[in-house]
Amino acid sequence: MEPVPIVLGVGGGIAAYKAAELARALMERGCTVETVMTAAAQEFVQPLTFAALTGRKVITSMFGARTADEVLASSVEHIAVAQRNRLLVVAPATAHLLAQFAHGLAGDFLTTLHLAFQGRVVLCPAMNTAMWDHPATQENLATLRRRGALVVEPEAGELACGTVGVGRLADPERIAAFVLSALETRRDLEGETVLVTAGPTREPLDPVRFISNRSSGKMGYAIAEAAAARGANVILVSGPVNLTPPEGVKLVQVQTAIEMYDAVMEHMDSAAIIVKTAAVADYHIADVPAQKVKKTAMRLSLELDPTPDILAELGRRKKDQLLIGFAAETENMVAEARRKLKSKNCDMVVGNLVSHPDGVGFESDDNEVVLVTRGGETLALPLASKREIAGQILDHALKLRLALHAGKA
Ligand code: PMT
Repeated sequence: MEPVPIVLGVGGGIAAYKAAELARALMERGCTVETVMTAAAQEFVQPLTFAALTGRKVITSMFGARTADEVLASSVEHIAVAQRNRLLVVAPATAHLLAQFAHGLAGDFLTTLHLAFQGRVVLCPAMNTAMWDHPATQENLATLRRRGALVVEPEAGELACGTVGVGRLADPERIAAFVLSALETRRDLEGETVLVTAGPTREPLDPVRFISNRSSGKMGYAIAEAAAARGANVILVSGPVNLTPPEGVKLVQVQTAIEMYDAVMEHMDSAAIIVKTAAVADYHIADVPAQKVKKTAMRLSLELDPTPDILAELGRRKKDQLLIGFAAETENMVAEARRKLKSKNCDMVVGNLVSHPDGVGFESDDNEVVLVTRGGETLALPLASKREIAGQILDHALKLRLALHAGKA
């Protein structure tokens, strides 16, 4: 997939350091990032931080050039930057920047770029609560929204000025997900419900201990994010993870396999597509002791019972839903994926070699998988970010559904 060129405008606020995390989050999602910093932003963070992260020159002023040729080139650079990038994201967008944008001022590189920019603009405001609530700020934002700008609202919490309220820059992961959805032009899942499971489950051994696994939830959250960007109503049933749920997704948090089973069964009827990415524990203790198990010098054996197989039950109950399972394997991946496809009555199984030499699979930002389908097709998706893999899984799922409906698979 071609990298998506994005220009990141960094305003002068205490949250400017979080723009560095945003640059990284965008790059992890397959974007190239060109950074423009206002003079005030450079009081908070050094341009070098962004140059090192993005591997590109950072634009810090309108007329920083020395020679006559450089002056000539830099005088039109804002147009070139506007033309070569698909989206302008401004984070943090200060009250001052919003006012300048709303009034069409063009006194420095970023405001000039904003006027010249014809692609999508995403504004991520961050400021003190009183400044945020001020009618001037709200009217400027309303003007910008009316002109097509998209806004990632600030979050509530403790602010750098010591007050508590709305004004904190949205989480960089949330902004990055929003940017990707703003770039997504396909709306081929509009109005459909997609049920995704993600993350591990935790099976208690006693009140303080549990069995779990290495799943971080990244693969499942990437699928939820990709489906939401394409217009789906996404229900994300998630085990305990450290991730921010994608914008607009309905999150159902669970801990154990039984809780995941209940949540999935409750929502399965409303779903057109079900993607079971979660790494569900296969065994648990059916009767968890009420008190912490005491340590002794003796050997301890655990007696474990199987958990309900959610995917197999979905396979038994499914009507016209498209059912996609995963198979995390350390050997014979394709054969195992095909076996699970049949035994669990799936339409597609995503085989994931979790003993991959490059360390992809669990926890990593990238993945490499093989799709096996009901029609007998086997398709390897080469190493890519989990977000890209998620998009490709959805592409193939939709193609498969068409083929199944046409009776060709
Ligand atoms: O979360 P990440 O760190 O991003 O890692 C991603 C991943 C490696 C977890 C993911 O890509 C993946 O492979 N998920 C499936 C993990 C798994 O449990 O595989 P399995 O082969 O044990 O299970 C096969 C299928 O049955 C899975 O769809 C699983 O959700 C489902 N299952 C398993 C047991 C059970 N009791 N109920 C189930 O529904």
